[in-house]
Amino acid sequence: MKVTVTKSSLKTLKSGILVIPFASGEIRKNAAKTLAALGFDKAVLKDFKGKAGDALLLYPAGSGLKSQRVLLAGLGDASSIEEFRKAALSAASRAVSLHTSSTAIDCSALASWSRSTGESPAGLVEVLVDAYTGGVYSFDRLKSGKLEKEKKKKDATPAELKIRVNAGSMRDAREGAERGQIIAGARALARDMVNMPGNLLSAEGIADAARESAEKSGCKVTVFDRKQIEKLGMGGLLAVNKGSHNPPTFTIIEYEPKGKPLATVALVGKGVTFDSGGISIKPSQGMDAMKCDMAGAAAVIGAVEAAARLELPLRIVTLVPATDNMPGGAAQTPGDVITTYSGITVEVGNTDAEGRLILADALAYAVAHYKPDAIIDLATLTGACIVALGYSVAGMFSNDDEFAGRIFEAGRRSGEKVWRMPLWEEYAELIKSEVADVHNTGGKGAGTITAAKFLEKFTGGHGRWAHLDIAGPAFTTKGTGGSYGGTGFGVRLLVDLLRTWT
Ligand code: BES
Ligand code: MN
Ligand code: ZN
Repeated sequence: MKVTVTKSSLKTLKSGILVIPFASGEIRKNAAKTLAALGFDKAVLKDFKGKAGDALLLYPAGSGLKSQRVLLAGLGDASSIEEFRKAALSAASRAVSLHTSSTAIDCSALASWSRSTGESPAGLVEVLVDAYTGGVYSFDRLKSGKLEKEKKKKDATPAELKIRVNAGSMRDAREGAERGQIIAGARALARDMVNMPGNLLSAEGIADAARESAEKSGCKVTVFDRKQIEKLGMGGLLAVNKGSHNPPTFTIIEYEPKGKPLATVALVGKGVTFDSGGISIKPSQGMDAMKCDMAGAAAVIGAVEAAARLELPLRIVTLVPATDNMPGGAAQTPGDVITTYSGITVEVGNTDAEGRLILADALAYAVAHYKPDAIIDLATLTGACIVALGYSVAGMFSNDDEFAGRIFEAGRRSGEKVWRMPLWEEYAELIKSEVADVHNTGGKGAGTITAAKFLEKFTGGHGRWAHLDIAGPAFTTKGTGGSYGGTGFGVRLLVDLLRTWT
């Protein structure tokens, strides 16, 4: 997406759709005047009340307007960034359905929006650019364009966004647009990775994607191959990989800020490129969606890319254990006992509880090697989390109340919401093993919590750890913002958390 900032007048601005956002309060005051100046009958305001996400499409006739269409976009009472996100998303869905290549958003009221939301002008432009870019995202790299219909579609993707501001807001708008593009780019990377099917994105593919991203953002990358993983004794990752024809990888991305970092933050992401369940094989219905089982990895790779490009004053270490989880003659079998990187032994009651096995190694490795001030993992870990919280909210666990509060707040602000669940000690009872130190499943109840209790054992008593179970919001088959597949959930949340670090 090409994003430009301009101060040209609404009349001379050229675009396929000129989006004019209005807050509901403004409609009574200024909207009639603005519309009259553009040659529209103010009667249209009978049909447009300015609720957030509402939109009314108008076609100018002989008014000298250079834009083909005008879209009135509601901002509600313009008191929160969520309303701006909704307005940008509704503009994006029009741009997609009308096949317009360029969209302009009128941000003449930026200063007043800044007052009503309490957000900075740059922050508002950032949200508009990020949300619009996310709204027009489509995953088409696997479309060959060999069919007539697909050929046409390819030509008709929205390619340009213009942000129209008053002269005094040019600098703010440029800064916000730049940041919005960085965040949107990182999210698109995460979505692309999640959307890549298992046959096209292996553990080595994840390492390659990390290398490519790190090159763009100036981060350092280390990739351990099978030999090194064996040498390190990452027994969890190796056990899950046993049934696979593809080698595992363990990828580390390190971002060092220019000055002295405020803190070291470790980000860990589950990178199961396809989860068949292994010998404890899953039912075939819906199994295809298990290509999304590396969404945690995608989110943390995207987040460190964005953090580096935004030059945040933190040292960030991203760790990604990756493999697929397959059945086969060599696969691990239920009842196996394995020794993880930490030395803790695990009875594998169910090979489908594989995410926690590879995360166990990564968490222990992060704590041992980087002395992080905080550690946060993201994983599509349990179906039970979808039962508990549905498809738009992630489960959150933390052993630090203050940290949990900040993650909750970052979730609220970024629109990627999390809800905290308990790590109470009675749940640890459920994952006791008769033969090993711990069991990898906890029976019927509280599946999301027992998974988190399992992970906790591998944090080495670190006092500031959080786990996000993103099984619900990572992937959608219905489409949020009009699109199928990976959502990039976690990128915005992490960026928000990291940039407000204190
Ligand atoms: N990858 C799945 C969890 C999942 C389910 C993610 C649905 C996204 C959508 C995970 O590896 C898994 O299979 N979990 C099991 C755990 C059980 C065997 C204890 C589950 O949730 O059923
Ligand atoms: Mn599984
Ligand atoms: Zn899984």
